[in-house]
Amino acid sequence: MSQRISLTRYLVEQQRMEGHIPSQLRLLLEVVARACKGISQAVNKGALGGVLGTAGSENVQGEMQKKLDIIANEVLIEANEWGGHLAAMASEEMDDIYVVPNRYPQGEYLLLFDPLDGSSNIDVNVSIGTIFSVLKKPEGDNSVDETDFLQAGRQQVAAGYCVYGPQTTLVLTVGDGVAMFTLDREQGSFVLTDENIRIPEDTQEFAINMSNMRHWDEPVKRYIDECLQGKTGPRGKDFNMRWIASMVADVHRILTRGGVFLYPWDKREPEKAGKLRLMYEANPMSWLVEQAGGAATNGKQRILDLKPGKLHERVSVMLGSKNEVERVTAYHQV
Ligand code: AHG
Ligand code: MN
Ligand code: MN
Repeated sequence: MSQRISLTRYLVEQQRMEGHIPSQLRLLLEVVARACKGISQAVNKGALGGVLGTAGSENVQGEMQKKLDIIANEVLIEANEWGGHLAAMASEEMDDIYVVPNRYPQGEYLLLFDPLDGSSNIDVNVSIGTIFSVLKKPEGDNSVDETDFLQAGRQQVAAGYCVYGPQTTLVLTVGDGVAMFTLDREQGSFVLTDENIRIPEDTQEFAINMSNMRHWDEPVKRYIDECLQGKTGPRGKDFNMRWIASMVADVHRILTRGGVFLYPWDKREPEKAGKLRLMYEANPMSWLVEQAGGAATNGKQRILDLKPGKLHERVSVMLGSKNEVERVTAYHQV
C-alpha cells in the first residue's frame, strides 16, 4: 500500500463516504482499538510483566480465570466506561452486564467482548486475542438491562477482533467488508494493511479439536471422516488440519487463506449447545466471515439468525469457506 492509512483515517472516511458510521460508533471503535493496544503491551511483557499464570478465581462459565483474562477485562472496561458512547458492556469474564456508572454520560451502544480468547495459550506463548461485538440499545427505554443485549447477530453494527501474535492485528467490519490493520509499535497506531478480505469458497484445510472425535454427532463424524480419506475418498482431494485452540488465531488464518473451523456440539456435556459463546465469540466471528464471503452455521441454522435466550448462551459453530460450511450443514439435514 503506497500511502499509510491509519485506523482513525479509515473510520473517518467510512463515516464520511458511506455515512453509516455515526460519530459515536467511530469513537467507540477507536477506544476499543486503544484498549487492544494496552492489552497487546501486557501480552508482550509476559513473564517480565508478571501477567502469566492463573488468577485463582472462576468465571460464570466455571472456567479458571488467568491473570490476563482479568487484566484484559479491566483494560476494556476502564477504556470504554467514560467516553459517553456506551450504555453498558458484557463480557465472558463478568456474570452480569456492566452498566456505565451514572457519573458518566450514557450512550446508545452496547459492547460485548471476550477480553482474552485462547486462555490456554497464554502461558505457552501462542497467539491469543480479544473479540468484540457492538449492538445498538433498543430505542424507547431509558434504563438498560440484560434483555437489551439479547439481539440476533445480524443486528450487530460493528464486530471484530485483535490477535496478539507475531504481529498485533486488528480485524474489523462495520458491514462494509472486512479490513485488517497492523499495529505499528513505533507510531503507536493501527495501519490498514489489507481490505476487502475474501475467503475462498473451497478449501483443503479444516480446524477441529480431533481429541473430541468420539463425542461428536454423526454428521460431523461423517464430514471429518470424508476429509481424512483424502484423494482416494469421496472428496477426491487431500486435506490438511490446523488447530490452534485460540478461535481468534484459527479465524484469522481462515480470513487470510481460507479453511473451515468447527467447534460442534458434542456428547461430553449434551445439555450445552456447544462450547463457544454465541454473543461475544460466534456472532462477531460469523459476521466477519460472512462479510468476507464465507458462511457460518450451527449445523442447522445461520448463526446470525439465532435469537439469544441469555447473555452467556453457548452455540455449536461451523464457519469459514462457503462450500465446506454448506456441505457439513447439509449433512445435518439428512
Ligand atoms: P476462551 O479462552 O475465551 O475461553 O476461549 C477458548 C475457546 C476458543 O478460542 C478455542 O477455539 C477453544 O476454546 C479451544 O477449546 P479446546 O481447548 O477444547 O480445544
Ligand atoms: Mn474465547
Ligand atoms: Mn476468553
